[in-house]
Amino acid sequence: MDEEEIEELLQKYYRKDMHYEDGKILGSMYTQPPKIALKAFFKFYQANLGNPGLYRGTAEMEREVIKFLLKLTSGSEDFFGHIVSGGTEANIIALWVAREMGYKRVLATEDAHFSIRKAANLLKLPIKRVEMEKGRMSIEDLKSKIKEEDIIVATVGTTPLGFVDPIEEIGKICQMHNCFLHVDAAFGGYVVPFLRELKYTNKKFGFDIPAVRTITIDPHKMGMAPYPAGGIVSRENIFEKIEIEAPYLIEEKNDSLLGTRQSGSVAAAYAAQLYFGWEGYREIVRKCMENTNYLVKRAKEEELEILQQPEMNIVNLIIKNVEKVKMELYARGWGISINPKYSSLRIVIMPHVTKGIIDEFLAEIKNIKKSYGL
Ligand SMILES: Cc1ncc(COP(=O)(O)O)c(C=O)c1O
Repeated sequence: MDEEEIEELLQKYYRKDMHYEDGKILGSMYTQPPKIALKAFFKFYQANLGNPGLYRGTAEMEREVIKFLLKLTSGSEDFFGHIVSGGTEANIIALWVAREMGYKRVLATEDAHFSIRKAANLLKLPIKRVEMEKGRMSIEDLKSKIKEEDIIVATVGTTPLGFVDPIEEIGKICQMHNCFLHVDAAFGGYVVPFLRELKYTNKKFGFDIPAVRTITIDPHKMGMAPYPAGGIVSRENIFEKIEIEAPYLIEEKNDSLLGTRQSGSVAAAYAAQLYFGWEGYREIVRKCMENTNYLVKRAKEEELEILQQPEMNIVNLIIKNVEKVKMELYARGWGISINPKYSSLRIVIMPHVTKGIIDEFLAEIKNIKKSYGL
C-alpha cells in the first residue's frame, strides 16, 4: 500500500477511538500531554532502558525524572528509582522486592488498586483485607491484623475516591512491627505536594515518614507525560534484589521486571517536567481543584448527591441505576467510569475536563434522568 492509503485506513480507526482533546473522557487518570513531550517521545522512540548501555543519554534523563519524583516524595536525591510501564508494574516490583527481602503477607484495603491483588497473586503472597473508615485505611483494624513480616500497602489518591490513607499513623504502626510499607501514590503523588502548597491539606505521604520504603508515582497520570511512564522510587537500592545476569546486554545485567522498555516516554516525561516545572504542576492542580469545586457546586444545584467531599480531583455522584446511566452516557459519546459499590459515577477532573465540559455533562445527566424517570 502507499502511504496515503495507509493513512486513510489509519484515519478510519482513529475516528473510532475516543480522544482526550474532545474532553469527553471523564473516567481516566490520563490527559493530553504537551506537544513538546510528544516531540520528545518520537525523537527517542528507539530508546530502550532494558539495555541502558546503548542509551546513555536516555539513562541520564531517567535520573532527572527520578530526581523530580524524589522531590515530590520528600526523598533525598541519592535515593533510587526506575521509570517503568505504569503503576501496575511499579506495584509489582515493590511487592516482589519486599518478598525477596523476606516479607510474607500483604495487607491492603479493598480500595487499593487491583494491581496489588495481581501482584500478590503472581508472587504467591497471601493478601488480607484491612477495613476502611470513611474510604481510608482503618488504623484500628490495621492494628488488630498486623504481624511482623507483613507488607502494608497504603494509597495516596485511591482509584475509586481519590482519598489519602493516613500514612503517618500507618508508618508508626509499621515501625513498631518492623513491617515493609509501600505507598501507592500513582495518582496522588503529583497532587498532594501541591495541595499542601495550596493549603488544601497538610498530609505527609513520602520518605519524610521513616517507615516508607517504596513509592509508586506515575508521570503518565498527573505528571502530564504520555504512557508508558510509571515510576517506582525507593530509599534503598531495591533493584539489586531483582538483578539478573544478562550477558547479551552491554551492562550484562537487568534489574527491572520488563526486558525491553519503551523509553521514548522517559524523554517525554523529562520534557513535560521541564515544560511545566514545579510551579506549572502546582497551577495544574490549582485549576483541577477549582474545576472539582465547580462540579461539586453545580451538581448540588442540579440536586445531585455527592458521595463524600472530594480530597483531590476525583468526584463521585450518587446516581440510581448507575450501570444503565453509564451505558447511556457511553452511547452518547462520554467515557465515564462508575463505582458500583457506591452506586456512583466517578469523574476524574483532569485538565481536559473544563467548566464547559462539566456543564455539558450535567445537562446530559439531567436529560438521561428525565428520559428514564430516574
Ligand atoms: C492508585 C493506583 N495505583 C496503580 C494504578 C495502575 O496504574 P497503571 O494503569 O499505570 O498500571 C492506578 C491506575 O489507575 C491507580 O489508580
